[in-house]
Amino acid sequence: MERLQKVIANSGITSRRKAEELILNGKVRVNGVRVITLGTQVSSSDKVEVDGVLINKEDKVYYLLNKPREVITSVTDDKGRKTVVDIIKDDKRIYPVGRLDYDTTGAIILTNDGEFANLMMHPKNEIDKCYIAKIEGELTPKELMTLKTGVIIDKIKTKRAKVKIRKVDKKTNTSIIEITIHEGKNHQVKKMFESVGHTVLKLKRERIAFLTLEGLKSGEYRKLNHKEVTTLYSLAINKKV
Ligand code: URA
Repeated sequence: MERLQKVIANSGITSRRKAEELILNGKVRVNGVRVITLGTQVSSSDKVEVDGVLINKEDKVYYLLNKPREVITSVTDDKGRKTVVDIIKDDKRIYPVGRLDYDTTGAIILTNDGEFANLMMHPKNEIDKCYIAKIEGELTPKELMTLKTGVIIDKIKTKRAKVKIRKVDKKTNTSIIEITIHEGKNHQVKKMFESVGHTVLKLKRERIAFLTLEGLKSGEYRKLNHKEVTTLYSLAINKKV
C-alpha cells in the first residue's frame, strides 16, 4: 500500500506537491470514486485516475506462445492479418519480445514489461535462441564452419553460433539443422543460410534460453511463472559487461 499522492507523483505526471493539489481539487478518482483526502492508501491493483486518465501501472504479465504460421509478430497489422497479440486472451497492453517472421513458427514471449523486453532483446545479454531450420541441400564441412564462426549479413558479421546437422535427406535433398544464436537481426537465420548458398524452407524457434515448447501445441500459450521470469532476468543481467 502507498499514499495516493506518492503513487501519482511516481507515475511521473507531476510533483508530490502538485499531486496533493490535484487530490484536494477533486481531480483524482480511485476505482471510480473521487478521493479528496490526502494520504489515502492505495495498492497496485487500485485504479487511479487523474482528470479521467488512468495513471498507475498494470501488473506485469509474461507469456510463452507457440506461434503458428501466418500470424504476424506485432500488436496490430494494417493489412488485417492475425497478430500474436490477438491469440492471447488478456486485456493488458502486451507486445511480443523480438520478432518471428510471418512464416516462422515456435517460441515467442509476450509481455507488458518494457525493461524485461529490452533485456531479452539486447544481443549483449546473450539470451540463446535455438532454431530448427529445414534447408535445401546439404551443408559442407566448410559451410558449417562458416556459419559457426560468423557470416556477413547486412554488412555486419554475425556472432559465433552453435550449428548442428540433425538429419540429411538425400531423397528430397534437404537437411534439418539446429542453429543457436543470441542476436536478433531481421531474418537473421534465413540470411545466414542464404549467405552460404542454402534456402531455408521451414523455420521453427524451438527454445529461448531454457524455455522450450514442451506442452504447447501450435497456437497454445502459457504464463511464465515467477521463477522462470526471475531466472531470465538474472541470465540477462549476469551476462552484461
Ligand atoms: N531468423 C529468421 O530468418 N526468421 C525468423 O523468424 C527468426 C530468425
